[in-house]
Amino acid sequence: MKISVIGTGYVGLVTGATLADIGHEVMCVDVDVQKVEQMKQAISPIYEPGLGDLMARNIAAKRLNFTSDPQSGFKEAEVIYIAVGTPENEDGSANLTYIEQAAKDIADHIENDIVIVVKSTVPVGTNHKIKQLVEAAVKGRARIAVVSNPEFLKEGSAIQDTFYGDRIVIGSDDEPSARIVEAINEPFGVPVFHTDTRSAEMIKYASNAFLATKISFINEISNICELVGANVENVAAGMGMDSRIGHQFLKAGIGYGGSCFPKDTEALIQIAGNVNYEFELLKGVVNVNRKQQLLLIEKLNACVDSLAGKRVAVLGLAFKPKTDDMRQAASLLIIEELLKQGAEVVTFDPVATEKAKALLNPSIVYANSLEAAVEGSDAALIVTEWDEIKNADLNVFAGMKRPLVIDGRNCFGLEMVKSHAIEYHSIGRPAIFNATNKDFSGVKWSPEAERLVHWGLNTN
Ligand code: UDX
Repeated sequence: MKISVIGTGYVGLVTGATLADIGHEVMCVDVDVQKVEQMKQAISPIYEPGLGDLMARNIAAKRLNFTSDPQSGFKEAEVIYIAVGTPENEDGSANLTYIEQAAKDIADHIENDIVIVVKSTVPVGTNHKIKQLVEAAVKGRARIAVVSNPEFLKEGSAIQDTFYGDRIVIGSDDEPSARIVEAINEPFGVPVFHTDTRSAEMIKYASNAFLATKISFINEISNICELVGANVENVAAGMGMDSRIGHQFLKAGIGYGGSCFPKDTEALIQIAGNVNYEFELLKGVVNVNRKQQLLLIEKLNACVDSLAGKRVAVLGLAFKPKTDDMRQAASLLIIEELLKQGAEVVTFDPVATEKAKALLNPSIVYANSLEAAVEGSDAALIVTEWDEIKNADLNVFAGMKRPLVIDGRNCFGLEMVKSHAIEYHSIGRPAIFNATNKDFSGVKWSPEAERLVHWGLNTN
């Protein structure tokens, strides 16, 4: 089919490239002229494993094209995908400016009947509004159908998620158009769930809110584990064996970030609020996440008298590994707080450094390797579980000025840590105090250690 995709962010570009790969003729339309020129040469504007190759292959096969001109972009389209952003307004609601602009562009430039597929995450009722907007503007010139087709891809595994997804949700009150979208996706071989438009819009928010709830839940359990001397990894493993619970999204850490969970949870609270419903559980999830994102600072403060003049290595900047995305990354809050408390910050991230530079205070030092970041540091905070960090030789930490490692992603097994001369704090697991070769006179004893003594678990 001849398909146009509006917006070339994560969702739009991955959608365009994968649809081209299964044989459709795809035209991606974006207002950013410079970005369009880059993409024409198969240069991906985002770091996403495999995306550059996928683009190159389909550009060469003439199935994938890019333009900044909506007129030529929509001219031949039988189906137009909307994949523009819906960022967060100050009150947490979804900002629909780009959606409205896309609807206007479609109405201005289409010549034939069209099926509009909405990939963007939009509040319940927006698909209907888009239909009304476009219909009013085309004044009977063409027949308009709108189909909700929410996106469930994860950054870092977006292509894999598209080809091997759990389901494709197609929401429409117009049966023939829903069948067209099903036929477009058929080569992916992913199970299709058909439903009404409003339910499809809700499935997206409910899914993200549920996954965020799982994360905040296990994070609270991890905080309790620390207080009672349990190990959250064992707890999660045992819970996950119950097929009703499952193993996924039970990894305790420093909270969820990224472009979806923080924005979509806030938006769902707003959506409920607009119909006078207080989503109490989700408000709790959001509050727990806010606190969890600063947990490393709390743990660090418990280990040192003051951070003034201390050199702290922040390991990992992106909100998760395999992406350079810094949106709602815990590193931003952590670094801001470290600076506020007078620390000197040196960071290492294998991919996100360039994006981070545009956002962070100019005083930050960017190291080229983990070794360079921790050398001479008084503490190391692990923020993102990159392989480069998970596979690090722990002896590197032992050589720090003070070998204090606070790991927000449980990158290392406790047994392995025990054979190294470091003080190691992680999430929901007993702390390890092995830095016996260092003089810590004047160093505050951490309350975590006291708790472990209380439980008889501190063997040092
Ligand atoms: C998420 C959804 O998974 C995806 O379906 C949706 O389309 C967009 O939002 P993404 O934001 O790319 O995808 O990343 P994801 O892997 O889901 O992680 C989100 C955040 O949760 C990250 O900060 C990650 O570190 C955190 N997380 C995830 C945990 O803390 N623990 C977990 O067990 C899983």
